Amino acid sequence: MSILIKNGHIVTASEDFKADIYVEGEKIVAIGKDLKYDAQKVIDASGKLVFPGGIDPHVHLDMPFMGTSSSDDYETGTRAALHGGTTMVIDFILQTQGDTLYNALRAWQKRSEKAIGDYSYHMAVTDFNDNTAKEVVELIEKEGITSFKTFMAYKGALMIDDGQMVQLMRTLKKHGGLITVHATNGDMIDSLISMHRKEGKLSPLYHYLSQPEITEAEASERFSDMLYYTGCPGYIVHMTCEGALNAVRRASTRNQKVFVETCSQYLMLDASLYEKGFEGAKWVMSPPLREKKDQTALWSGINQGLVQVVGTDHCPFMWEQKKMGENDFSKIPNGHPAIEHRMEFVFSEGVAKGKISLSKFVEVTSTNAAKIFGMYPRKGTLSIGADADIVVFDPNKKHIISVKTHHMNVDYSAYEGWEVTGKCETVLLRGQVAIENEKCLLTKGNGKFIPRNKISGII
Ligand code: URP
Ligand code: ZN
Ligand code: ZN
Repeated sequence: MSILIKNGHIVTASEDFKADIYVEGEKIVAIGKDLKYDAQKVIDASGKLVFPGGIDPHVHLDMPFMGTSSSDDYETGTRAALHGGTTMVIDFILQTQGDTLYNALRAWQKRSEKAIGDYSYHMAVTDFNDNTAKEVVELIEKEGITSFKTFMAYKGALMIDDGQMVQLMRTLKKHGGLITVHATNGDMIDSLISMHRKEGKLSPLYHYLSQPEITEAEASERFSDMLYYTGCPGYIVHMTCEGALNAVRRASTRNQKVFVETCSQYLMLDASLYEKGFEGAKWVMSPPLREKKDQTALWSGINQGLVQVVGTDHCPFMWEQKKMGENDFSKIPNGHPAIEHRMEFVFSEGVAKGKISLSKFVEVTSTNAAKIFGMYPRKGTLSIGADADIVVFDPNKKHIISVKTHHMNVDYSAYEGWEVTGKCETVLLRGQVAIENEKCLLTKGNGKFIPRNKISGII
């Protein structure tokens, strides 16, 4: 199929101009003024923004977790993502402790057969030993899986200790991998959880009070120090707070690059939501929501280049699943739904409210993830030869977020009634019209696994 997008306001991470884009097959073939191509389909983008499809590098689809599974699978999750302009996601494979990485990979490959949008995987290493080290090298060399997730919390299920962390970093440094981390002090959090439970403090508020800012700041500093020692490139996922950001700022003064991702919820919501009784379970996620001063620090971090990526940590659960923790916050499955709205949220709260520029918006929602995770310029930009993952966006259209209209497989919205400025109108995925007139035109099985390159840690 050939598509000509006419008269759009094209935005990339570095440029911003009026032009046409011509797409043939899966790729962008030409970008220029008044292109004369006889295309099968013409999209009039006058008055619209045209930017690269979003990449959400932090999602959990159909993931077994805390005695249940996240409620969006690869079909519903990637469909909802496409509705919101996210054409590619990176999901987390979880190694079962005591089992191999390849067994986990095979389980996730089965799950992802249903994907509608494109995807890749981070491999979460929850048990690092000599055998895992060999598998890590094979995953990098043979499978195009070049980023490896670690947890400094969730002891007994996912957490590795600092010794394993340093040895994994050494392996990755040698073979071109990137280490990513859930950076919070697991032992300290576990002890605060037990203390609150013993005291009969069981509401969602105590989820928040069991994970104070210092637990994240300390772990971020420790992780950055281990990166410094090993020389391994590293990426901290879902950063929420000023204290953790300052740890990375300090690391940067020794000319160390530690990549940082925050998530749209940490830029928009704050911990006052935990005062709503059990309704607060909607926002029980780890780390928890923080304070207004942390939102300011994160937006500043984006503008200072200390925060490179805004993801979602999309990990939805139905209300019945959240109710597993009705009488004990520690049993509420952690996570919230956001995969569909990330691009519109960051545009609305960031660009429309004058906090970030258009190019910064493209950087943090798409380009930087493509660069950091080894798939640029195939993904993450509008350039000749790139995959034609393109969003045509109406920057003025206002709409209200609601469970009644969202496409995620979850029976509440964590943003019910929130007014957003800007809407994805047409979304192309590798040259196919994925979203038009609020309908998804692609079906399950269309999504492709995107193998990634080795990682340098410099973007
Ligand atoms: O609450 C969260 N974040 N759930 C998903 C697992 C994780 O820690 O990212
Ligand atoms: Zn996490
Ligand atoms: Zn996560």
